[in-house]
This record gives sequence, C-alpha cells and structure tokens, in this order.
Amino acid sequence: MTVIRSVVTGTGSYLPERVLTNDELARMVDTSDEWIAQRTGIRQRHIAAEGETTATLATEAARRAMAAAGVTADDIDLIILATATPDNTFPATAVEVQARLGVLRGAAFDMQAVCSGFVYGVTTADSMLRTGLAKRALVIGAETFSRILDWTDRTTCVLFGDGAGAIVLEAQEGQGTTDDRGVLTSHLRSDGRHKEKLYVDGGPSSTGTVGHLRMEGREVFKFAVGAVTDVIEEAFKATGFNGDTIDWFVPHQANRRIIEGSAKKLDIDLSKVVITVDRHGNTSAASIPLAVDAAVKDGRIKKGDVVLLEAMGGGFTWGAVLVRW
Ligand code: UT7
Repeated sequence: MTVIRSVVTGTGSYLPERVLTNDELARMVDTSDEWIAQRTGIRQRHIAAEGETTATLATEAARRAMAAAGVTADDIDLIILATATPDNTFPATAVEVQARLGVLRGAAFDMQAVCSGFVYGVTTADSMLRTGLAKRALVIGAETFSRILDWTDRTTCVLFGDGAGAIVLEAQEGQGTTDDRGVLTSHLRSDGRHKEKLYVDGGPSSTGTVGHLRMEGREVFKFAVGAVTDVIEEAFKATGFNGDTIDWFVPHQANRRIIEGSAKKLDIDLSKVVITVDRHGNTSAASIPLAVDAAVKDGRIKKGDVVLLEAMGGGFTWGAVLVRW
C-alpha cells in the first residue's frame, strides 16, 4: 500500500551581515566573553540591519530553499512561517513573504510556538500534505529577536540572535515503512502552566505594546533537558530508531550545555550532533532550519539519512520530528 510522505527537497538560510561578538556585548552590559561562552557556548550572533525585518530574512531563506529544490513560485501552494517576531500584529508575516516570492496559489499563515515553531510548522505542513490539502510547502523559521530584547538585561540580551531558515516539503509516494524518504513521525507537546518562565511582557490585547522578552533562565534550563528527551523517546518508540541508529541530531540551538545534556541522556554520540549555537546564538524558530541548512551545505546531512529535529521553548512548547532525508 502506498502512502503520502512529506519529503524535504531543498533547504536554504539567511543570516544578516552584522555580527555582534561577546566582547562587544561586554561593553554594553556587565558580562564577559568567558561567562557567555562557558555558560552557553555562544561566541557571536547576527543582528538584522535597519530595514531588514522578519519578512525580508524569511524571503531570502525561502528563495534559497526553492533554488536548492529546483522549484519556482508557481510550484508552492502552502507557506508556513514560524515566528514570534512578526513584522506586524496582523496580517501574518507569511502573506508578506508570499507576496515577495510571487506565490499566488494556496495558503500562507504564521505559526506561533516560539522556539518550537519550526517543529510545529513541519508537523502542520506534513499533516496538510498527507491529507491532500497541499502538494508543495515552504516551511520557514524566521526571527528578529534583537527587536524584542531588553538590551540592558544581561541575563537575556546575550543569548539571542536574528536569522532565517527554510525547507521545501513535497508530497511524494512512499511505501509506509521507515525506509521511505520524508517525515516519519512527529510528536508535539505544550504545557501552559509555565508561561511566566519565558514570555514577552507586552502584546496587542494586554498592554497595547510590543514588550520585551523575559526569562527565568535556570527554570527553563531544568525543564529543557527532561522535556526534550520525553518526545524524542516517543519518536524512537514510534519508528524503532534509537540514538545509535539515527544519522544526525539537529536540536534547537539555545545552549550548548542543554544540547550536550540531551545527547548524553539519549545515547547520541556528540559527533552526530549539529551545533551552530556558537555562531548564531539562539535564533528561536529559525535555529533548527539554520542548523539543518549548514549541515546540508557542508555535506553532513545527505539523501537517505535519518535526521532527528527537536525543540523546546516558550509556552512551554516542545516537540520532535524524525525525517528520512
Ligand atoms: O530557546 C528557549 C529556551 N531557552 C533556553 O533554553 C535558555 C535556558 N537557560 C539557559 O541557557 C541558562 O539558564 C542561562 C544561560 C540563561 C543562564 O545560565 P545559568 O548557568 O543557569 O546561570 P544562572 O541564571 O544560574 O546565573 C548564574 C550567575 C548569576 O549570578 P549570581 O546570582 O550567582 O551572583 C547571574 O546573575 O550568573 C549571573 N549572570 C551573568 N553574569 C555575567 C547572568 N547572566 C549573566 C551574564 N554575564 N550575561
């Protein structure tokens, strides 16, 4: 029996030119390169220039993914843009990207699950492709967190960066086994009781302002390792894969210590873990597609490889997706 699978046919990413180093941050707030590098693994992050927005970053990443997939605007009939930093409260930034790309068919909408947004977006696109609602989707993660940071708060402003990553997902026929290319399984979770540990202190309906990011870092850290292993174990159980038999682990890039802790707990050798947090910082919904694109471009992730994507973020939200490339 044949089934529909959502196959990744192209990846792309875009990073703003401006690089902000730890040493520069140390001149802005009471911090040091040593503290940031030791506690997070971050060395630098990219910051959007004046005139660059989430939509412009997303559009460039999407163009590159479409070029890699060999498709044009006429081939795309679904755009899901994961972001917590939209250009406007409404309309969705995804429709701005749709217009910029010249896509005239299908639907475009934003996905709001903060750092888990890309995993939520891939899962949603996969569901729509498998039910025949669309044939070829762009799933984009794009953020300009620099615009919602409190640049006087050293506990948060050193952690985040801007950027965008995208993939093209295409409905193709599979045999219904784990040898198929495409999304093999997805597991999403959320728990709204943790809202106060990671949130933005403004919004259209509460304060009428955009607000700034607030985080109880230690609390988020504690939750991250446990939650993430939870959904990954579900993904392993659903497919029969384990830490040894997957080819690549591409986790959300928030903190090198969280990534290494999760890998250890799941018996995933560090040589299989894609890490970009040192160069990109935490780019929220953009972090996984940025890391994926880096590993595709440098030849690590290849057709047929089994790739585990995982994220955890504000909400709390978290999730895991297992894909055969
Ligand atoms: O993407 C969404 C998910 N987000 C995350 O996954 C972030 C999760 N949390 C983390 O990555 C870590 O908790 C942080 C990197 C945010 C903080 O690391 P930590 O090891 O948990 O440090 P801490 O919050 O326990 O702070 C230790 C000390 C404190 O000083 P005292 O109270 O011990 O005197 C902080 O005030 O470090 C101080 N501190 C800093 N010092 C220099 C906090 N931020 C800084 C800083 N520079 N930037």
